[in-house]
Amino acid sequence: MRKKYKLQLKSSLLVFAMVFLITSCKDNNAKKNMENKETEVIANVEEEMYRPNFHFSPKKGWMNDPNGMFYYNGYYHLYFQHYPDDSKWGPMHWGHAISTDMISWKEQPIALYPDELGFIFSGSAVVDVDNTSGFSTESKTPVVAVFTYHDMEADKAGEIKDETQAIAYSFDEGLTYKKYEGNPVVENPNIPDFRDPKVNWDEERKQWTMVLAAGQEIMFYASKDLKKWELLSKFGEGIGNHDGVWECPDFFPLPVKGTDETKWVLFVSINPGGPNSGSATQYFVGDFDGKTFKIDENFQKEQAKEHSFWVDHGRDNYAGVTWSNITTAEGGKLFIGWMSNWLYANEVPTEKWRSTSTIARELGLIRGDNTYRLVSSPVKELNAYRAKKVAEEAISVNGKTVLTTTETLSLSKTEINFTISDVAEGKYTFILSNSKDDELTFGYNATEKSFFVDRNKSGKIDFSDKFTDRISIAPRISSSADLNGKILLDKTSIELFYDDGQTVMTEIFFPNAPFETLSIVSDKEKFMLNNLEIHELKFN
Ligand code: FRU
Repeated sequence: MRKKYKLQLKSSLLVFAMVFLITSCKDNNAKKNMENKETEVIANVEEEMYRPNFHFSPKKGWMNDPNGMFYYNGYYHLYFQHYPDDSKWGPMHWGHAISTDMISWKEQPIALYPDELGFIFSGSAVVDVDNTSGFSTESKTPVVAVFTYHDMEADKAGEIKDETQAIAYSFDEGLTYKKYEGNPVVENPNIPDFRDPKVNWDEERKQWTMVLAAGQEIMFYASKDLKKWELLSKFGEGIGNHDGVWECPDFFPLPVKGTDETKWVLFVSINPGGPNSGSATQYFVGDFDGKTFKIDENFQKEQAKEHSFWVDHGRDNYAGVTWSNITTAEGGKLFIGWMSNWLYANEVPTEKWRSTSTIARELGLIRGDNTYRLVSSPVKELNAYRAKKVAEEAISVNGKTVLTTTETLSLSKTEINFTISDVAEGKYTFILSNSKDDELTFGYNATEKSFFVDRNKSGKIDFSDKFTDRISIAPRISSSADLNGKILLDKTSIELFYDDGQTVMTEIFFPNAPFETLSIVSDKEKFMLNNLEIHELKFN
């Protein structure tokens, strides 16, 4: 009896355990399914809400600096710092995208993978038209990428020499690369933060010039074959902003608009130390004799008085550099930046991918009141995307005025041009708003002579306390009586080009719903808003 009872107990326990196991397995599967569905729904919402309409973003994973940009055979190439396996910074690869107009991008396979020498940090690429490198044995034109190896082991061990410069070459127009057997081509002379080589062809001297961030300076190198590099000079000690690490330089000549003069421009990204905290890019103007960059005297005086020489005063345009192998018909350079800031880049509320690029921009130089000033504007290619339009030649604004709503056109793929007459006094505020009570405000304050962007109520803001710790401001550089502006709006970004691009501000935001209304208001009783054009842009 006892035995039988025991057996019965055993078998019922077994049945119970099996039932438990099966149901809990089922439960687990159901739980997993639910979780997968949830992630899918979140991913879809993220795509719908935050995937930009007309700014480049990687399909998945992390992105930071633009790298290796060159133009060849009708294609603009854009490589980028990329970690494909996570949406946070990690082992760096070079992602790749191509475009025929710098607006619509097609992502390509990863171009450079990390290897035993290290992660692939930022750098540049050139088209070696004359085969100066000798890489080509057939008649194929080599594209040569020049980048920094960051040795993570050495970094962890606290070694100073953890960064060296290396090259890789491509015979299929930048699609795939072979790393050079003789790497590294520039050894580290015991300098921390020794990185981000930007190479350009110096037509006058018929040589390659490389600028490299080296601690708190920029080192200038020259080469005839892209393999042997000679140190020419250094620049930067005691000049410009030094409140952070110097990174991602660029160096190129620019004609001064309306004159026969050409000046050399040096870009240096700095993090932190930007005008509105965190990451930003400063510039210097001067002359180059093939060896040394000599900063323009007036420029240096003005910069020492008040450092307003930033490529972009907003908080979200970093590490931007220019395309090699192309200038515009007017001799301008073409530029793109990373639309984020190291203060919060790893936390912005997207999971599938993180970060986007700025709109591609054309850079020029003007002679301002006291010295030279950089001007930028979106590339002209963007005009081809203009579709629906609202236009008003003159609006007399008297109290808060709605300029347009999403009943007429989208405010997430939009170009707005305007002029405000006589801005000697008053504060002019544009307001983007939606039914969730999110608001993004921006505009001009004449008393302070400064522009502002306030994203404190712009939607999702609590992912980082750095995101809304201030209202960003930028000085007005122009002294003209009328103020003209161009605004580009995407789902999560605003790019502001004031006074024909003399003051530029780029900022990102994450609204809880798309913005629906654009209004303007002023403390001035009445003012004239002229030449208003609002274009909805059309993308496939
Ligand atoms: C700038 C930067 C570069 C470096 C890269 C690493 O954002 O820090 O100096 O090469 O990012 O991803």
